[in-house]
Amino acid sequence: MAKTKTTFFCQNCGAQHSKWMGKCPQCNKWNTIVEEVVHKEVVQTWDSSQSSSGKKSKPFRVSEIVSNQEKRFNTRNEELDRVLGGGIVPGSLILLGGEPGIGKSTLMLQLALSVSHLKTLYVSGEESLNQIKMRAERIDISNENLFILAETKTQSIFNQIKALTPELLIIDSIQTLQTEMIESSPGSVSQIRECTAELLRYAKESSTPVILIGHITKDGNLAGPKILEHMVDVVLQFEGDRNHLFRILRAHKNRFGSTQELGIYEMHGSGLREVKNPSEILISQRDDELSGNAIAATMEGARPMMIEIQALVSSAVYGTPQRSTTGYDIKRLNMLLAVLEKRAGFRLAAKDVFLNVTGGIKVDDPAIDLAVVASILSSNEDISISSKVCFAAEVGLAGEIRPINRVEQRITEAEKLGFQVIFISKYNKINIEKYKIKVVLVSKMEDMFQRLFG
Ligand code: TYD
Ligand code: MG
Repeated sequence: MAKTKTTFFCQNCGAQHSKWMGKCPQCNKWNTIVEEVVHKEVVQTWDSSQSSSGKKSKPFRVSEIVSNQEKRFNTRNEELDRVLGGGIVPGSLILLGGEPGIGKSTLMLQLALSVSHLKTLYVSGEESLNQIKMRAERIDISNENLFILAETKTQSIFNQIKALTPELLIIDSIQTLQTEMIESSPGSVSQIRECTAELLRYAKESSTPVILIGHITKDGNLAGPKILEHMVDVVLQFEGDRNHLFRILRAHKNRFGSTQELGIYEMHGSGLREVKNPSEILISQRDDELSGNAIAATMEGARPMMIEIQALVSSAVYGTPQRSTTGYDIKRLNMLLAVLEKRAGFRLAAKDVFLNVTGGIKVDDPAIDLAVVASILSSNEDISISSKVCFAAEVGLAGEIRPINRVEQRITEAEKLGFQVIFISKYNKINIEKYKIKVVLVSKMEDMFQRLFG
């Protein structure tokens, strides 16, 4: 046994210091440094000589390396596959973060139950076998290839892994794990770091994908040091208002795919349902047409999606008019209002403007500008826009309506969803003859106003 040593860790960034300080010099946060007891032993829990592949590391030519790109595991969950960039890459370490109660354990158990083609080990340090059984009964999928282990000590977990040789390992959660090599309590920076390092070694040397569930703190960061995010290959975030029915899965980091993609789920009594057509939940179902509503054809990653913009324009009660937004950049709103005022002569300076992107989704696609402008004008004039009309264009500082990328994909989506008219920029050079939907080309704000409200 090596001699006991203590080190000071910053709980925020994971930096190591030799003495206590009030402020971490690395990340400049106050009161984040804590003392932890560390054991330094040379023995590694996951010993490569015992792993099935037992590769010794030596340099290879790039051409000699056998790519396992094609061997991605399909998770039988389209939304998850898309966010991961087309399935799980063997040997990858994936971190899934999210607030308590958002559905991380449900998503992972559902995944574990669906992948009956892979021998899966689900390790839970948070729930008892009984609780997991109850959850599995709610989800109601049976899988003889899934094994559940309630354990928190990494040494015991690795012993079970050696006996079982799973093809997929899920850990719920990394904060509950404990390695004997370090004496501090579970959830502390050094424990999280060491346990993750052990799992990383295991994943890489055995080519088994490992998914870690991680908690996030009050301010929305993954609990434990930032260093965790550097160690893993993929960081997924499961988010959404707990009162909303649906949940959004995003990749914040992905070494094997884009971070643009987004997966949408709905929480039901029997687990999470994939929402394959997001427009169905993002457009409010209404019978009567109200002023101030306009629909934008936007893109999230490679997927076109229709979202609804709602604006409310009213005379300001106080001297300074209020501007507020949900799901949209307020600076961009102010810019569009200035453009409307200066370039198109609409008097909005003395008006309160509230803007809402329905569904609680945050969008930063410039192509929704035109829908934002249309909804503001509709509310200002108190004339409704038909729910069969949608918009896809950017608005420039000179009041010009600018072309956007992938306009054809957006038009096709709008057509598929039964829209009858779409407004796009005149400068988008496309052949509009081939569409059934009426494509209206506009170049200036006045053009659009004329075509919309006559
Ligand atoms: P959970 O997956 O435990 O969240 P996390 O692991 O992120 O903390 O549970 C999320 C919530 O989902 C919980 O409050 C109960 C609810 N739930 C359902 O509505 N339907 C279901 O089928 C299941 C399993 C859970
Ligand atoms: Mg959980």
